[in-house]
Amino acid sequence: MEFSELIEKRYSVRGYKPDPVEKEKLDNILEAGISAPTGVNAQAFKIYVINTKKHKEGLEKIYSQPWFVEAPVVLCLAMAPAKCWTRPWDGKNISDIDAGIIMDHMILAACNQGLGTCFIGAFKKYAAVDLLDLDEEYEPVLFTPLGYPNDKGRNTTRKSFDELVVYKD
Ligand SMILES: Cc1cc2nc3c(=O)[nH]c(=O)nc-3n(C[C@H](O)[C@H](O)[C@H](O)COP(=O)(O)O)c2cc1C
Repeated sequence: MEFSELIEKRYSVRGYKPDPVEKEKLDNILEAGISAPTGVNAQAFKIYVINTKKHKEGLEKIYSQPWFVEAPVVLCLAMAPAKCWTRPWDGKNISDIDAGIIMDHMILAACNQGLGTCFIGAFKKYAAVDLLDLDEEYEPVLFTPLGYPNDKGRNTTRKSFDELVVYKD
């Protein structure tokens, strides 16, 4: 798929078929996440590949929308903030920025193969820590279901170019 077509095609999918995700496609998506840039190349993350059927109850406690547990796979990206770069002069830790980039790489790789995803940030952190048995070093930052779309398609718009782009000459 052309890059511009990919950017145009991706949207937040909120309805999934139960059909399995092929192993080659899943591996391609995970490789895209692993290839993502991180500040100082810290790579201080883990990607959890969760079998939805096996962990339906635990997942429902994390995020309660019914479509969250429709796809066969849910991905969780957990970061270790203490191992990510912190800007020394003002203390800004960049783990959330790293996380957004890693997840976006996976989400675009999924879309490129006809698979749907949806960034999920509004989840219950401690339910996630419980399900994934995370130690204190790792913090769950983003989830996404991963599966074939079964919804009505994109329904969002964007602000205009002029509202969002500022040229400072
Ligand atoms: C960091 C991040 C967190 C998000 N968290 C949620 C969420 O918890 N639940 C949800 O339904 N959508 C979530 N979204 C999806 C946004 O609502 C969606 O991207 C936005 O409305 C634009 O729509 P589109 O993705 O279809 O283009 C999140 C998106 C981002 C980038």
